Parts: sequence; C-alpha cells; structure tokens
Amino acid sequence: MVKVAPSLLSASFNELGFDVKTVIEAGADLIHLDVMDGVFVPNITFGPAIIKSLPRTEGVEFDAHLMITQPENHIDSFLELELDRISIHVESTIHLQRLLRKIKNTGTKSAVALNPSTSLSSIEWVLDDIDMVLIMTVNPGFGGQQFIPAMTKKIELMKEMIVHKGLPIEIEVDGGVCPGNIRELTDAGVDIVVAGSAVFGKNDYKKAIDELKNPR
Ligand code: DX5
Ligand code: ZN
Repeated sequence: MVKVAPSLLSASFNELGFDVKTVIEAGADLIHLDVMDGVFVPNITFGPAIIKSLPRTEGVEFDAHLMITQPENHIDSFLELELDRISIHVESTIHLQRLLRKIKNTGTKSAVALNPSTSLSSIEWVLDDIDMVLIMTVNPGFGGQQFIPAMTKKIELMKEMIVHKGLPIEIEVDGGVCPGNIRELTDAGVDIVVAGSAVFGKNDYKKAIDELKNPR
C-alpha cells in the first residue's frame, strides 16, 4: 500500500503542532515539511526552529523537502534535528554528491528531488548515495497546483532504472496528488505520495488519507 505524507504547507500555520497530531491520528505515514527560502522557489515557509518545535511520534517519519539555494550552508541545522529523511534539489547545489553522502552518513535517509523539467540522467551518478528520489509533479513553491501528466512517464522510467540496477531506492511524488491520479501513480511505481490540499483541504483527514491509500 502506498504511504501518505501530508504536507504541512496546506495546514494552519497558527496550529501546526495540533495539525501534525491530528493528521497522524488520521493515518499519516510521514509528515512532509516544505522548507522554502523565497529564492529557489517564489515562496517562503519555515525553517529548522519551527520544525524543532513540532511534536514527534514514534513510527511516523519527518520528511523534510528543502527548496532552498545552497542547502549545504544550512544542512547542519537540519541534521541536528535528527529528521528521518531530507530531500535536496538537484538544481539547488553544485556539489550534490557530497551533500547527499553527508546526510546519509549521519543516518538520515538521503533523497534527491527533481523539478519537472530536470532529466533523470542528472541523478545517474548519485544513486549509491540516496535512499529516495522525490519526483516533483508540479513546479515547487505552492500547494494546490495541477499534476503535470507527463510526469507519469518520468516515474515509470525512474522505477525501471531502480529495478534494473537492483537498488533499494523509494520513489516519492509531490504535487497535485489526488484520489483521481493515485492509481496511475502507484501503477507507475510510486512508494510515497505527498498530499497537501488532498488532505488538509478536506474536513475529514482520515477519510481523505483512506481515499489515497485505497483508491476506488
Ligand atoms: C510544492 C510542495 C508540495 C505541496 C504539495 O512546492 O513541495 O509539498 O505542499 O501540495 P499539493 O498536494 O496541494 O499539490
Ligand atoms: Zn514538498
């Protein structure tokens, strides 16, 4: 069954801690944390201090998605938090391999994120340094955008690459996920779906998460 990672970007920022607990009770497998700097993406959200203040629950992973330029300048503050996963955008740093290896060596799962226009070939030589690939299915920056249909093929090709090389790499997708495209995504090989508006935009979080895990 696909794992669901609700994105706090669509939660209420004045009661984030409450929303984290509520969505975990509703069946969230991971909590997706969108860190934006207003430079790499045209929006600003939150950083390590806010993440540190959030309640943690055993067995529910904290999954940070760093949409910041030169993440190497800030990585130590995120590593101190002992998060479960950290995703670094290919487009955000020059020495990608060094940074992914640094994350992995601390015991945090390292992941590489790709904007929709970024080719899979850009990560060919870091496959040994990652535990997950985050395929963006919208251009990052905002919640509530439309899924880009061409990304399904990209996910299929990524899955093929992973299977062909026999690597234990998970695929996460982020952007425009909804009950209507979940089957297409899981058929393509997705392990984890990020869902912002498809969870926090609904009144009943449990029903919303169930609909993603068990599509009709
Ligand atoms: C977009 C963020 C996403 C966003 C997804 O830049 O990375 O995590 O919250 O929101 P939805 O699911 O509404 O597209
Ligand atoms: Zn995200």
